[in-house]
Amino acid sequence: MISVKTIDNELVFTLFTNSSSYQMKADKYGVLLHLYYGRPIINGDNLSDLIFLSDMGFSGNPPCAGKDRTYSLDTLPQEVSGFGIGDYRDSMVSLLHDDGSRAAEFRYDSFEIVDSSYKIDGMPALYDTSVTKGETLIITMREAASDIVLKLYYGVYEKENVITRAAKIINKGTRRVFVEKLLSMNMDMLFFDPDIIYFTGRHAFERAPERVPVKHAKVEIGSVRGTSSHQYNPAFILCDHDANEEQGNCYGFCLAYSGNFVGAAQKDQKNQVRVQMGIHPEGFHYLLEQDEELMTPQVIMSFSGSGLSTLSQQYHDILRENMCRGKYKHEKRPVLINNWEATYFDFDREKLHDIAQQASELGIEMLVLDDGWFGKRDDDFSGLGDWFVNEKKLGGSLKEVGERVNAMGMKFGLWFEPEMISEDSDLYREHPEWAVAIPNREPNRGRYQLALDMSRADVRDYLLEKMTDILNNAPIIYVKWDLNRSICDMYSYASAQERSGELYHKYVLGVYDLLERLLERFPDLLLEGCSGGGGRFDAGMLYYSPQIWCSDNTDAINRLSIQYGTSFFYPISSFGSHVSACPNHQTGRSVPFQTRGDVAMSGSFGYELDLGKISEEEKEQVKEQVAQFHKLYDLTHEGDYYRLTPLENGDCMAWAFVAKDKKRAALTIVKTQSEGNPLPTHVYMKGLLRNRQYRCTLKNDMSVIKTGAAFINAGITIPWIMMQYESVMVLFEEI
Ligand code: DGJ
Repeated sequence: MISVKTIDNELVFTLFTNSSSYQMKADKYGVLLHLYYGRPIINGDNLSDLIFLSDMGFSGNPPCAGKDRTYSLDTLPQEVSGFGIGDYRDSMVSLLHDDGSRAAEFRYDSFEIVDSSYKIDGMPALYDTSVTKGETLIITMREAASDIVLKLYYGVYEKENVITRAAKIINKGTRRVFVEKLLSMNMDMLFFDPDIIYFTGRHAFERAPERVPVKHAKVEIGSVRGTSSHQYNPAFILCDHDANEEQGNCYGFCLAYSGNFVGAAQKDQKNQVRVQMGIHPEGFHYLLEQDEELMTPQVIMSFSGSGLSTLSQQYHDILRENMCRGKYKHEKRPVLINNWEATYFDFDREKLHDIAQQASELGIEMLVLDDGWFGKRDDDFSGLGDWFVNEKKLGGSLKEVGERVNAMGMKFGLWFEPEMISEDSDLYREHPEWAVAIPNREPNRGRYQLALDMSRADVRDYLLEKMTDILNNAPIIYVKWDLNRSICDMYSYASAQERSGELYHKYVLGVYDLLERLLERFPDLLLEGCSGGGGRFDAGMLYYSPQIWCSDNTDAINRLSIQYGTSFFYPISSFGSHVSACPNHQTGRSVPFQTRGDVAMSGSFGYELDLGKISEEEKEQVKEQVAQFHKLYDLTHEGDYYRLTPLENGDCMAWAFVAKDKKRAALTIVKTQSEGNPLPTHVYMKGLLRNRQYRCTLKNDMSVIKTGAAFINAGITIPWIMMQYESVMVLFEEI
């Protein structure tokens, strides 16, 4: 619900979700002040008096304040902060005007309430469904001196406890302006002394959480790699110092964007916490001629007054329901086998046939043909961009390969890396100007390849036609969309010099455009996003691909922490997760087959190994795992997820899925450390109904009946000694 009240000539806006409230006001000078975000207040409450005005010294006063030295943009808690006009903290918006001046002084103009979610042209955003519908408050601010308009968008999702933010800038003036910075949000939180949790890492080790207190030195995460990156995920949490899974105020900030971004929190001189998120200003310089506009990506905010588990569940629900789209949003996704770790580039018709044959016998439902099927591509030096089938290598057409796979009762999927180009490719020889590179400079290579200039319509049209041709001519239901380098040397032969500061953003818009048009042509296609594993694992990509390859690291033990970190924001259904060979190709570690299955099953499940090399016993396990995955699908893909142990627990990691109706649950425990003379493994369950009776099954003939309260409060002791890397899956059924 959105409430707007005029109180003492000021306009107070309050946004209500079931478990949170957000309040701000356009004050008597038209400055939009942030008053509150947190546990619910009552409609009619005005929190203006939380702001204490005082002369802080060296914090000047805008002319509207006259002689009032206590009114300073430098100390007031604001919803928009402009550079150059007396707020010396980090700005949300910075404008370079025609006369060379830099000032962004936005004052309240008007508001509008719309009974639906707002859209962002060419970019992902939460959308309305029959299950969840948003409301939108649009506050229009105006710069009097330039007539530039800034519209602030607030989306409200009541039962999901989600509030979104975005901003649109429109040049209504007569003179051009360069936008040097436009973040999606600014919020100055009063009386809050939080920790920040962000998710950092590297290729093959993504999204490790780090938690530090927010102090006066800024904590900033971000990417200037052209993609959201392995190094920092575009999402962070602010929470009470003592917040944990079950208690404490927690605020999430999650950017639905797949390019350069920044996220920051910092205390100001009054100990207010300035929180910001949006497109990274580095390399950003956006020209707006008269009547041109620019809209930011969306920040999805959520609040939980009861700890991190609830916060994560809120994100899982809204991203699953209102961000993911397409046939496979709720429909069961096939268990796949991907040939990458089985063959890398070294495959032929026979090898693929054998993999498919064995997989189909074990109940696996789809073969995904990874890198190497096109152009001249037997290693990663060449071929990208040449999206025509290498029939010699495949021993026939892709149609024949797909039909052979179909004849075995399996579906067929294919790998692409559309955004990239190899210098050793026909495409590059024909169109060197399509690659991202600066004239008269040697470009940086990543995995020996260059990026295609996705800001160009002709590049996108070429890719769309090539992909369409391939998808039309083979029975392909799934595409893995990969991207294997960070982007630099930004330049476009097709763009005016003064527009070069728009290219990183236009690259992302270009990727979204191509994805959207491909999905328009093939609406039932299942896309799996990928960027060297999880280098572009963000809410924006979920709009196109309901699952994303979580990491190139398939070691089940490393995956525990990667999947743990990923679970804070992203639904488990979105984790592409596979059982691979041991010793693991990334770490050299050996882990029991069952554990590899139990870990991968907490995701969108598949296999990525040579089935010809596994034992008969393991083959039986594959059959059981596929059946188990289907049995648990409603839990893992639609249920509530609970982290039961912290990352550094010592000797085991555990997590659980509980059905929305609380009738079924599954708990997985993996023993990560073991000692001589071992102690028992014990965990506390979560999410069951306390007063209901559940049958808890540990193994076929090993079950016990107790109340939910018993499993939650007293926990479960595993009645055998778990060896290192052993896992157990415990099932609960209400009786
Ligand atoms: C990186 C991906 O993450 C891998 O799974 C695989 O598809 C390779 N690229 C292929 O080049």
